[in-house]
Formats: sequence, structure tokens, C-alpha cells
Amino acid sequence: MKNLPRLGVNIDHVATLRNARGENYPSPLRAALLCKEYGADGITAHLREDRRHINDSDILEIKKKVDLPLNFEMAPTNEMLQIAIKTKPNACCIVPEKREEVTTEGGINVIKNHNSLVNLIKELKNNGIRVSLFIDPSNDQIIAAKDIGADIIEIHTGEFCKNVHLGLNFESSFAKIKEASFFANHIGLEVHLGHGITFESIEKLSEINEIKEFNIGHFIVSESVFLGLKDTINEFKRLIEKGRVSR
Ligand code: PXP
Repeated sequence: MKNLPRLGVNIDHVATLRNARGENYPSPLRAALLCKEYGADGITAHLREDRRHINDSDILEIKKKVDLPLNFEMAPTNEMLQIAIKTKPNACCIVPEKREEVTTEGGINVIKNHNSLVNLIKELKNNGIRVSLFIDPSNDQIIAAKDIGADIIEIHTGEFCKNVHLGLNFESSFAKIKEASFFANHIGLEVHLGHGITFESIEKLSEINEIKEFNIGHFIVSESVFLGLKDTINEFKRLIEKGRVSR
């Protein structure tokens, strides 16, 4: 089936496991190479300011040795901008970053951070890097993303996924993502989704026509402990296709 959303695998937590013991395994590079072999469409990695998982040489090695588009998640800082320009990933996904958070808790406020984002986005684009903004599903944020020159928005799916996993009503959080995706696509932005996605939540999200890419990390690395990377990726691809067909 053509035009299925791409599956980007976030390999951050392979590095989390490596760093927990200070060893050189498991290797994020090896994981990324296997993701390619098993049918992933892209690799995502977030180089955090505190380097708690992925480090600078992981990013460079993956870019150099893995023949898949690299989606480089970064905070909007000058340090990350310089690394992005040196690395030349396919896209940079700009995320808010707080040192004390366990994971990226919400989208970036494009309106509030306009001044710190505008030149950074220009620089990335001047270097041939596509720019994605990780935002919450809000039309005001989508308009601001378009106005500031983003090519892509990635919508934070955390609230919807949490509702699914807790067995709570997810209709309103799903409707927000669906409406935001429609609006963003309508005004010419490419739409990606990410955060907290599992086997339970992917099928419903795949029903949204406008989605071009999913970026999934923690659950893929977690489930790989039981199923292995190959079967986990295959199952995601099967569920994405099933969601698309059942629209
Ligand atoms: N997309 C973005 C922008 C993120 O920040 C993250 C988390 O690093 C993900 C996707 C992947 O989220 P998860 O690890 O919950 O699948």
C-alpha cells in the first residue's frame, strides 16, 4: 500500500541503557543500522544539553553510517545550532528542553519564543536543513509555525496516548490532534506525530489522513526487550497499515 506514514525510530533509549553502566554497549549506531535493515524509514535522536543519552559522536556516526533520513531533535540553542550545521541532518525537530524533566513534556511555544526561534530557523534553512517544530495541537501555534518558516510540525501526542493507556476517554484528545493535523496540512505544513506512542495508540492515530511520519522511541526500545527490534518494527508497520485501511 502506497503513501503510508513513515516510521521514524528514536534510538535515544538505546543510549540510556548503554550509559546506565558506562559501557560501550548497546550501541545506538548498531540499533540504527538494524532499524534500517528491519524497515524503519528514518532515525530520530535527541542530543540533550546534559547528554544524558545520545552524545555528540553518536550523532555524527549515525549520520555518516546509516543510510536513512536523520531527524535531529534539539533545543533552540546556539550550541545545538552549530552541531546541526556540522551534522547536516535531513531535518531538525526543535523541542523545548528543561534539565529537570524526564522526557519532553510538551510542545514548544512558538509565539512566546518567536525571537529566539526566528534566526535559528533561518540559519538551519540556509544550510539546507528542513525545520520541524514540536508543538501541542493548537491552531495558534500552527499559524505561528507557518509564519516563522517551519516546513513541518510534529504534534505532541502525549495526552492522547496517556488517555489510551489509562483506559480513559480519548475522544477529545484525539479530535484535537486530528483537527490540528487537518489545519496544518491545509496551510502547507507537513505533519508528523510523536510522544508516548505504543501498539495500543498507533492504529487510531494512523486513521488521520494527513500524517506523514511517526517518531517513536521509548516503547520500541522497551518492547524490543521482549519481541526484538525486528518484530517490534514489523508490528508497528502492520498496525499503521491496518489503521490506514480501517478509516
Ligand atoms: N518526538 C519528539 C519530538 C520527542 O521529543 C520524543 C521524545 O524524545 C519522541 C518523538 C519520542 O517519544 P517516545 O520516546 O515517547 O516514543
